[in-house]
Amino acid sequence: MDVRDAEVLSRVIPSPMEKEIPRHVAIIMDGNGRWARQRGKARSFGHEAGVKAVRRAVQAALDMGLEALTLFAFSTENWRRPADEVEFLWRLLQHHLEKDVPELKAQGVRVLILGDREGLPGGVLEAIRAAEAETAGNRRLVCSFAVNYGGRRDITRAARELAQQVQRGNLRPEDITEALLEKHLATASLPPLDLLIRTGGEMRVSNFLLWELAYAEFVSLPVLWPDFEAQHLKEAIGEYQKRQRRFGGVGP
Ligand code: IPE
Ligand code: IPE
Ligand code: MG
Repeated sequence: MDVRDAEVLSRVIPSPMEKEIPRHVAIIMDGNGRWARQRGKARSFGHEAGVKAVRRAVQAALDMGLEALTLFAFSTENWRRPADEVEFLWRLLQHHLEKDVPELKAQGVRVLILGDREGLPGGVLEAIRAAEAETAGNRRLVCSFAVNYGGRRDITRAARELAQQVQRGNLRPEDITEALLEKHLATASLPPLDLLIRTGGEMRVSNFLLWELAYAEFVSLPVLWPDFEAQHLKEAIGEYQKRQRRFGGVGP
C-alpha cells in the first residue's frame, strides 16, 4: 500500500486517536466511604480525598478537550445519611468552591451548580453564587456540580413550571414537547449527555440525570472515587469510543 492509499484509508477508517471525544461526560463519584473504611478511617476522610479526585478529573477533562463535565456531589436522597456526615459534606463543598474557583476561573472553566437550592446552608448558597458569577464568562469547559440534585425532582420541577404557564394562559398543553420540557431542566444549557461514568463499581444510576441518560453510554468502573486518575477518564472514553450508538436505528 503506498502512502496515498494509506491517506485515503485513514479518512475512511478513523484511527482510535481520531475517534470522537464525547462532548459531555457525567460522573457518579461513588466509593468515598469504602475507600476510607479500607484505611480504617472515618467516612469524612474519604470525602476529603474525593475533593482531590475532583481536581484531577477537571484537569483531565480540560486536557482531553471535553465541553462539559457534570459531577454528582450530593443527591436528594443523601439527606438520609447521618447529620454529621451531611454537615461535613456541605462544609467541604463550600470550602472547595471558595478555594478552587480562582484556579478554575484562570483555566477557563465555567462553574454551574445543578439541583434544588432550598434547604442548603447559607454559606454554601453564597459560595455557589460567587462561583457561578466569577466564572460566568468562561467557555473552555463547563463544570457542573449536581448538589441536592435528583433526576425525578428536576423533571417534576420542569413539569410544574410548564403547568404554571398553562394555568396563566401562556402555553397550550398540545405545545408541550420533549424539546420544550428539556429547556426547563437544570441541564438546559449543556450539550447532550454522551457518557455516564460511575466509580465504585455499582450498576445503577441512583436518580442522576434520568431524562438526559436516555441515549447516553454507561461505563461503570471498579475504582473507588478517591483513587480516580486521568487514566480512568481515558479508559472510560476509550470504552465509549468502542460503542456503536444507534439511537434506536439499525446502525451503519
Ligand atoms: C460518594 O461516596 C460521595 C457521596 C455520595 C457524597 P459514598 O459516600 O457514597 O461512598 P460509599 O458508596 O459509601 O463507599
Ligand atoms: C450516588 O451515590 C450519589 C452521589 C455520588 C452523590 P450514593 O452512594 O448515594 O448511591 P447509592 O445509595 O449507592 O444508590
Ligand atoms: Mg455510595
